[in-house]
Amino acid sequence: MHKPQNIVILTGAGISAESGIDTFRSDGRPEKQGTWEQHRIEDVATPEGFARDPDLVLNFYDMRRADVQTKQPNAAHHALARLDREWNARADRALLIVTQNVDDLHERAGAQCVHHMHGELLSALCSACLERSPWTGPMIGRPACPQCGETALRPDVVWFGEMPYDMESIYGALRGADLFVSIGTSGAVYPAAGFVQDARSMGVQTLELNLERSEGSGWFDETRLGAASVLVPEWVDEILA
Ligand code: OAD
Repeated sequence: MHKPQNIVILTGAGISAESGIDTFRSDGRPEKQGTWEQHRIEDVATPEGFARDPDLVLNFYDMRRADVQTKQPNAAHHALARLDREWNARADRALLIVTQNVDDLHERAGAQCVHHMHGELLSALCSACLERSPWTGPMIGRPACPQCGETALRPDVVWFGEMPYDMESIYGALRGADLFVSIGTSGAVYPAAGFVQDARSMGVQTLELNLERSEGSGWFDETRLGAASVLVPEWVDEILA
């Protein structure tokens, strides 16, 4: 693999698994159920589910929001934060971390250039004024929007059937990239699952780091299998060497 200049990294739930945050789909271990084996997507991750039973949905995200604040970034988040810092310190190179994760572990490890395409648990979206506000507490009590005062807050998380955030900047970065790296994602949810094909069609090199082969593995130039806490620091050392 030649030395890249511009890197786009896509991360998924697998990078936060070793921090104790559940993945969505189980990874084959019978003792470890994914979030979607415990909750129905249509109940807790669609606008229709929210309209049907807002308390159920607010409670689901309130619990996840409280839980994530008890977790810590792991070696993989720290390695990417180091890469983000060192890579972007040079004017002739660029690195963008695109995450499907709604946790803030990349930021807490110190990464600066992070796009949360599926939104953030620690943010509230007001359905009345459409503003986003930092949010750490529960929403079940219908608190007022800090910006407009309406009691119309919802989790700032992209649900199925909704448009992910920042797609224009992400595709712009992919077009200018020469390496695309996918970490800890099953490649089951589009448009993120299609980034590898988009990258390939633009002549970008592609690398996958994942615990097991994913639905998209066949599209990557190279796949390395193992735990993110081991593979990511190894790859970062390699790329910075
Ligand atoms: P998934 O749960 O679908 O996949 C997690 C991937 O991480 C699997 O391929 C695992 O093998 C891998 N994995 C697990 N532990 C790992 C570890 N320690 N090191 C490396 N890899 C590990 O999660 P995502 O691909 O992120 O969207 O899911 C994509 C989207 O589906 C989520 O953002 C969410 C979900 O529905 C929305 O809610 C819109």
